[in-house]
Amino acid sequence: MTVKIHDTPDVQNFLKAVAGFDEQGGSHRAKQILHRLLSDVYRLMDDFDVSPEEFWSAVSLLNELGKESQFGLLAPGLGFDHYLDMRMDAADEQAGLTGGTPRTIEGPLYVAGAPVAEGEARLDDGSDEGAEVMWLTGQVRDTQGKPIPGAQVEIWHADSKGNYSFFDPSQSDYNLRRTILADAEGHYRARSIIPSGYGVPAGSPTDQVLKLLGRHGQRPAHIHFFVSAPGHRHLTTQINLAGDEYTWDDFAFATREELVVDATRIEDAAEAAKRGLEAPFTEVVFDVELASTADPELQTRHKRPRALEDEAAPSQREPAEA
Ligand SMILES: [Fe+2]
Repeated sequence: MTVKIHDTPDVQNFLKAVAGFDEQGGSHRAKQILHRLLSDVYRLMDDFDVSPEEFWSAVSLLNELGKESQFGLLAPGLGFDHYLDMRMDAADEQAGLTGGTPRTIEGPLYVAGAPVAEGEARLDDGSDEGAEVMWLTGQVRDTQGKPIPGAQVEIWHADSKGNYSFFDPSQSDYNLRRTILADAEGHYRARSIIPSGYGVPAGSPTDQVLKLLGRHGQRPAHIHFFVSAPGHRHLTTQINLAGDEYTWDDFAFATREELVVDATRIEDAAEAAKRGLEAPFTEVVFDVELASTADPELQTRHKRPRALEDEAAPSQREPAEA
C-alpha cells in the first residue's frame, strides 16, 4: 500500500502547527528549520512508504546513539563534519581567503587546557610500552613562506591502541595532548608515540548505521592540530600518516591529499642522537602555512561544545587561595 498525503492541505496545515507557526513565542529560525526538516521527513515517509516498525526502530536507534554519546561519532561518518569544511572552504574562496594549509575536521575528542610548552614538548607519559617513538616537527609560516615566531600549535592524538586520554580514563591527564609555542624561527618539536588508527566500537549504534550502508567505521593513524597566531586565520586540521590501510579510506572523510604525511623509520643511532633520542624511531614532519586575516573572529577556533572548554587547565588557573 502506498499513500501520498504530504501535499494535502491537511498535512500542510498540520506541519505549520507542529512547527509552531501559529504561536507567538519560540525562535523564528528554529521554526523555519524544523518546518523544513519535518516536511522533508514526512515526504520521505510517503515516498519510501515507511512502516511504523521502521519508524520506531529508527527512534530506538536515536535513543541508543544519545545514551552512548555517539552523535558526535556518527556525524563525521555521515559526512557532516566534512560538509561543514566544504562550506567553509567555499566561503573562504568567495572572500578571497585562499592559500595556506587546508583545514579538515576537528572530530569530537579535543580536550581544552593541555599544558603549554615553549618550542618543544614531550606528549606521551612513557607508559605506552612497546609503542614506537615519534619525533614530530615542523615550521609554521605565512603564505609568503615567512616563519611565524610564537605560533600556537596544539596537538592531540590517540595512543597505540587508538584511545584518547580523558575519554579513556586509564590514561594520565592530558597524555598525548600539548600546546607548543613555536620558537623564533616558527619551529615546533614534539616527542611522542606513533598513534594507532581506530574504529567505531563494534556493535555500537554508529557501527549499526554504517553496516546498513555497507561501510566500515575505521580511521587511519592521524594527528590533530589547532594552529593559530595573531593576524592569521586559525587552522583546524589533522595529518594522516601515509601507509596506513585506511589512509585513503577514512570513514570520517578527513583525508586530504596535502595532509597525508610520510612516517619515516630511522634506525641510525647518530641520527637519533641528534634529536636526543635512541634508535629506532619514526620521524614525521609537518610544516604549516597560515593565511593572514585581519578579522579577529577568523583568528580563533569557532565555538562548539568541547571537553573542558570553559574550565582553565590546572597550569593556567589562578593560584588557589590559601
Ligand atoms: Fe582523532
